[in-house]
Amino acid sequence: MPRKKKQIDRNKYSQCNTKKLFIETYGCQMNVADTEVVSSILKKEGYTPTDDYHDADLILLNTCSVRDKAEQTVRNKLANFACLKKTRPWLLIGVLGCMAGRVKEKLLEEEKMVDLVAGPDAYRDLPVLISQAWNNLNAVNVHLSLEETYDDITPVRISGSGVTAFVSVMRGCDNMCTYCVVPYTRGRERSRDPKTILEEIDVLRSEGYKEITLLGQNIDSYLWYGGGAKKDFSKASEEAKANALHFSDLLKMVAETFPTMRIRFCTSNPHDMTDDVLDTIASHSNICRYMHLPFQSGSNRILQHMRRGYTREEYLTLIERVRAKIPDCGITMDIIAGYPTETEEDHKDTLSLMQSVKYEFGYMFKYSERPGTYAANHYPDDVPDDVKQRRLDEIITLQGQHSFERNKTYISTVSQVLVEGISKKDKEEVFGRNSQGIVVVFAKGNHSIGDFVNVKITDTTQGTLLGEALD
Ligand code: 5AD
Ligand code: SF4
Repeated sequence: MPRKKKQIDRNKYSQCNTKKLFIETYGCQMNVADTEVVSSILKKEGYTPTDDYHDADLILLNTCSVRDKAEQTVRNKLANFACLKKTRPWLLIGVLGCMAGRVKEKLLEEEKMVDLVAGPDAYRDLPVLISQAWNNLNAVNVHLSLEETYDDITPVRISGSGVTAFVSVMRGCDNMCTYCVVPYTRGRERSRDPKTILEEIDVLRSEGYKEITLLGQNIDSYLWYGGGAKKDFSKASEEAKANALHFSDLLKMVAETFPTMRIRFCTSNPHDMTDDVLDTIASHSNICRYMHLPFQSGSNRILQHMRRGYTREEYLTLIERVRAKIPDCGITMDIIAGYPTETEEDHKDTLSLMQSVKYEFGYMFKYSERPGTYAANHYPDDVPDDVKQRRLDEIITLQGQHSFERNKTYISTVSQVLVEGISKKDKEEVFGRNSQGIVVVFAKGNHSIGDFVNVKITDTTQGTLLGEALD
């Protein structure tokens, strides 16, 4: 039953509006980067960030829709934040990100929980939406764009240590894996002008940042041909086609323009990973020896069902190519347990693929049916939850063993570590990551956050390497 929205005369409270902004970010690194774009847009409108939501005049939740659990968390948070309106009636609450397009009617009209809704491509419109919401007008923009990359906006870095930063280089995904909501919530693939990418990194370098992670939902698919959606590349002029820049070109350009910075990138679809990218990593020492290669399932039947565009054998051949060209590469993955129709045999194929690769680390999930996806429309979510959970537990246990095994191979070797912070357990220790992305903890000595330090690895836990600084 739709609730009636209270009409508040916010202009009565204009004096109270101190323009304090509280943003909470859920989901992937892309959302973290987007939150920094939003902060930049709203800074120009006079908003200052606050860490205390009790203080805020505007609360924004940058949301994730990839799994149902993430959406539930946001709903619970929204209900809590809505209570703040009792003491701050002028408070505005907004939903950004992937949930925006999916649940706008429900949140705005039925539950009256939020005042404004902005999808991932609508952040430039936030000042207008805020003003509409302030005046009790319908404030929604979930339009998905074929061009928007926010390339001219310098993000306000609100997260992290001041040493590592995310730089978004492309948006959207054209892959349409059957289980995934991302192509619906974030739209079609489009890439950012390389000139603006280099400019953003140059600002970061001058501010003392030492490592950047280039971000894209499907980063190996980066294609700059003067702007526009990747799907329209075939319609571009012959000149634009001839001068087009692919991901390996961008990676090379970034690595060579910023030789003192460390470069990472994420996320790759195995289907789109080319030898050019592997060769570029191998020939540039400042590109991290690290690759995230989600495989989702080890069963050919399930991979085909998911429309991943590769077989188990092709995936394993890719891993061999990675290892041949970059022998010290750290490899991580994503897995989904309990995809529709998954049998014990399919699950065993996933475990055996893990055995063959022995990943450094992994992100492992239970299948979560997402309304509107191909899988949700065509296949019942037929693996019982207890079976999904048991399979996931087996996957997590095996990955734990592999992480420990991999970590042990680092003992007695030397890793270059970028110091990112002081250890929470011991103030005399610092932590950072090595090129392969593994966290290393060692005695602080004279080292500061932002230093690159050669560390001899002496011991390991399941997830963390322990060492002694050589410098
Ligand atoms: N259920 C469970 N996991 C999912 N992922 C994407 N969609 C779903 C879903 N419907 C996982 C995939 C992807 C990662 C970002 O999230 O493993 O690589
Ligand atoms: Fe989703 Fe597949 Fe695109 Fe990744 S590659 S964002 S899993 S559709």
